[in-house]
Amino acid sequence: MSEILVDVKHLKKYFHISKNQILKAVDDISFTIEKGKTLGLVGESGCGKTTVGRTILRLYKPDGGKVIFKNQDIYALGKKGYRELTKQMQMIFQDPYASLNPRKTVGAIVGEGLDIHKLYQSKEERAKRIKELLALVGLNHEHSNRFPHEFSGGQRQRIGIARALSVNPEFIVCDEAISALDVSIQAQIINLLMKLQRELNLTYLFIAHDLSVVRYISDDVAVMYLGKIVEKSSSGELFKKPLHPYTKGLMAAVPLPDPINEKKRIHSILSGEVPSPINPPNGCRFYKRCQYRRDICLEKTPQLADTGNQHLVACHMVHAEQW
Ligand SMILES: Nc1ncnc2c1ncn2[C@@H]1O[C@H](COP(=O)(O)OP(=O)(O)OP(=O)(O)O)[C@@H](O)[C@H]1O
Ligand SMILES: [Mg+2]
Repeated sequence: MSEILVDVKHLKKYFHISKNQILKAVDDISFTIEKGKTLGLVGESGCGKTTVGRTILRLYKPDGGKVIFKNQDIYALGKKGYRELTKQMQMIFQDPYASLNPRKTVGAIVGEGLDIHKLYQSKEERAKRIKELLALVGLNHEHSNRFPHEFSGGQRQRIGIARALSVNPEFIVCDEAISALDVSIQAQIINLLMKLQRELNLTYLFIAHDLSVVRYISDDVAVMYLGKIVEKSSSGELFKKPLHPYTKGLMAAVPLPDPINEKKRIHSILSGEVPSPINPPNGCRFYKRCQYRRDICLEKTPQLADTGNQHLVACHMVHAEQW
């Protein structure tokens, strides 16, 4: 039986930017992630991906909804429970250079979590653990006395991963963790993350703005548009049969290795600007950019509903075709 590790229910995070302006960064989104699996979360810049990640880690207080982690409501946890949670949930960032203290050695950076949570009995045990962590991410022990600027981008990301792993987390939010790296290095880090997932039974929320990046690592993919999930399914199904016009548009930007499918695919390039998430109108948020739009899309907000095979989509036109 699969076990649900993260259960996000109707999560909302609004930023009150002025007296009558509410920015709905995350507006009623729900998903689950099974233990040991990866959910890819994709969408254009500003659609709310990082805000989802931060709210799930309790770095933001939500304006509605719940996050159930290992069967406990994370917002209802007391001080002690929250401290425990900060060990179990970790985050890896886009820019490892900005998130690594330049004045600390790699050993000190990786050892910080061990110190905060007192995860060793002796100095020797601490040193041994740092050595193990560096080896786990493919770095040499001798690296522990060096500083972040002495490393390449990919190696710095490995340091960030070792730091996240130091406290033995079960769940990691990878927020654009490979977006700033060269393509060849991206593949190496993805392979590393997948190896670590198998070895340590980790669960990931893998955030990226590019669909091609989430494809291989994700079991399931959720596509976000302006604070809402517009489509969600297994990764295989989504790439075979994208349904939402927005997903199709994103897909058009992804090169396909197979020339036959490349010919057949819909070249619906995304046009128009992403509307503002400040005081968003009712109806479908993709309306202005959608080539299939009808009056109903302006009047009624489409709900995320199953089209069969656990392939969920929020589009009136897709559902009208199916039913
Ligand atoms: N602390 C904040 N205060 C006010 N507005 C915010 C804050 N954080 C994010 N926002 C706004 O919320 C929306 C979602 O931002 P978020 O950073 O979650 O998007 P994103 O999908 O991660 O984008 P990117 O791909 O650029 O990282 C944006 O409109 C952003 O300007
Ligand atoms: Mg972001």
